[in-house]
Amino acid sequence: MTVAEPLDLLEAGRKRNCYFSNPRRIHMERVQVQFDDVVFGRRSIRGYKPDPVPKALIEEILALAMRSPSSMNTQPWNFTVVSGEPLDRIRAGNTERNLAGVPHSREFRIGQAFAGQHRERQVGVAKQLFAAMGIEREDKEGRQDWVLRGFRQFDAPVCVIITYDRELADSDDTAFDCGAVTTALVNAAWSRGLGAVINSQGIMQSPVVREHAQIPDDQVIMKAVALGWPDEDFPANAVVSERKRVEEAARFLGFDD
Ligand SMILES: Cc1cc2nc3c(=O)[nH]c(=O)nc-3n(C[C@H](O)[C@H](O)[C@H](O)COP(=O)(O)O)c2cc1C
Repeated sequence: MTVAEPLDLLEAGRKRNCYFSNPRRIHMERVQVQFDDVVFGRRSIRGYKPDPVPKALIEEILALAMRSPSSMNTQPWNFTVVSGEPLDRIRAGNTERNLAGVPHSREFRIGQAFAGQHRERQVGVAKQLFAAMGIEREDKEGRQDWVLRGFRQFDAPVCVIITYDRELADSDDTAFDCGAVTTALVNAAWSRGLGAVINSQGIMQSPVVREHAQIPDDQVIMKAVALGWPDEDFPANAVVSERKRVEEAARFLGFDD
């Protein structure tokens, strides 16, 4: 597989922008179909092949993701890409602490437990995943294994730790910007045939991640993204989660139709 240099990609993007300034020169349909394929086709991947992911390909994906907008173009995000031994140490540390019942310690605020429609959606996707994996409601061991899988970053060959600059910690825009870049990252990965799952599980024991991923003190750990080549035979990878309808989420004001 030939992998474009990230800078080549940026250059290609710039050239494409020229096309966008002249609508007669672009083939809108083609652009749109490719975008739709990625957005509608992407789903969280929780089972991976062990094959390594080339560093240059990850750089290419990061270059795409980092075209995301951010508040005042502050770009508060940082990425620590972990593989091999350091990732194995994170997996082991996470597993050990969780089995020992060490309380979770994340570095950012989390709200109350979900209730109402949010709880229903949380349970909904869990049911889809457990059904795909053949894990019954009473199967405590099976459920525990599933949870531990998350703490092992789903045994993916790569984990990207998303952090933000501590001096911007007081602004909610920072979390917003990290979300934008992370969503772009998983879509960019999908566009290159890679699978990913954004996850909190990997950073619930943040001291473990901080130590083994050598996160500097001026960065705050936000989220983990497991990354790798999807295992097509892993049942949970086929799960397509549900979405509320546009009519439920959006209101339109001032339209004639
Ligand atoms: C902020 C955030 C945290 C998440 N944490 C986890 C997690 O800890 N474990 C997990 O298996 N999936 C996690 N996910 C993945 C979501 O469950 C998934 O995106 C959602 O169910 C929609 O499914 P889809 O990504 O397949 O479309 C997380 C996603 C986001 C955006």
